[in-house]
Amino acid sequence: DWTPDIFVEATIASLKEQLGDDKVVMGLSGGVDSSVAATLIHHAIGKNLHCIFVDNGLLRKHEFEDVLHSYKDMGLNVKGVDAKDKFYDALKGLTDPEDKRKAIGRVFIEVFDDEAHKIQNVKWLGQGTIYPDVIESVSVKGPSATIKSHHNVGGLPDFMKLKVVEPLNTLFKDEVRLVGKTLEIDQNILGRHPFPGPGLGIRILGDITPQKVHILQQVDHIFINGLKKAGLYDEVWQAGAILLPIQSVGVMGDERTYEQVVSLRAVTSVDGMTADWCHLPYDFLADVSNEIINTVKGVNRVVYDISSKPPATIEWE
Ligand code: XMP
Repeated sequence: DWTPDIFVEATIASLKEQLGDDKVVMGLSGGVDSSVAATLIHHAIGKNLHCIFVDNGLLRKHEFEDVLHSYKDMGLNVKGVDAKDKFYDALKGLTDPEDKRKAIGRVFIEVFDDEAHKIQNVKWLGQGTIYPDVIESVSVKGPSATIKSHHNVGGLPDFMKLKVVEPLNTLFKDEVRLVGKTLEIDQNILGRHPFPGPGLGIRILGDITPQKVHILQQVDHIFINGLKKAGLYDEVWQAGAILLPIQSVGVMGDERTYEQVVSLRAVTSVDGMTADWCHLPYDFLADVSNEIINTVKGVNRVVYDISSKPPATIEWE
């Protein structure tokens, strides 16, 4: 029978044999899969695993610092790379969701390739691929799909010519979490809601500016923190906020104001393929809405998305 303890022991042993004294480079996202995969490889080869965590400017509030800190606590040999401006430059003026996704994927590959070149004699690319990613090879989403579409365009970036090591490619998500528990990975990382690779970039409808990112980070933080404080975070499969590309009217004394609208989204799901909107308590929604409107400058209206998937996807674009 499969148990996480046996899996961990056997995988570390076979990684040691497979990798020997070779160096591995690996991109981390703060998500469960890449964190668990990196920890396994780290147990096998220690500092010969070189992790790279890129700040694409589209992460949640404080996420880059917090996650980097957790990784360092875990003993991982990790380098944080602030590439915010490169992403913002590439996104300037783009409004089409697929164009935005492509730009984000392209800049990520450039930044990662630059960093990988700084490591001498690297032989392997570590990846957090899990079994459903392997069987869903026709998926149009996710960072690996971005890399695949890049494949067809022109020359491969050098890191993609490396041999690939994917210690989780036989596991399902719940098994990955069990393995993470056995490895004593921070619950803050293991229990995390899924978060898309393009991050807040696909939750800002229309064009992306650093100012909009700043607004959405504050809104998202109030919502996610509120869920945690109310003990609701673990009951929700995924939650976030969307910045809508419209202005709505408000009153301030005698004046009319036109400010931004945000939508909150929280769903329950098993695998993201179908999803139901969460029936969050009205009092909770009222508190979150008040806090957002009272503290986030530029937002005067909060709505709650009550659509299920299908047909409404979890993300808005
Ligand atoms: P949808 O919006 O299709 O989302 O219902 C299902 C799950 O996939 C995530 N998602 C993405 N993940 N790159 C990713 O890495 C993407 O472009 C992307 N779009 C959606 C979404 O957050 C949800 O968990």
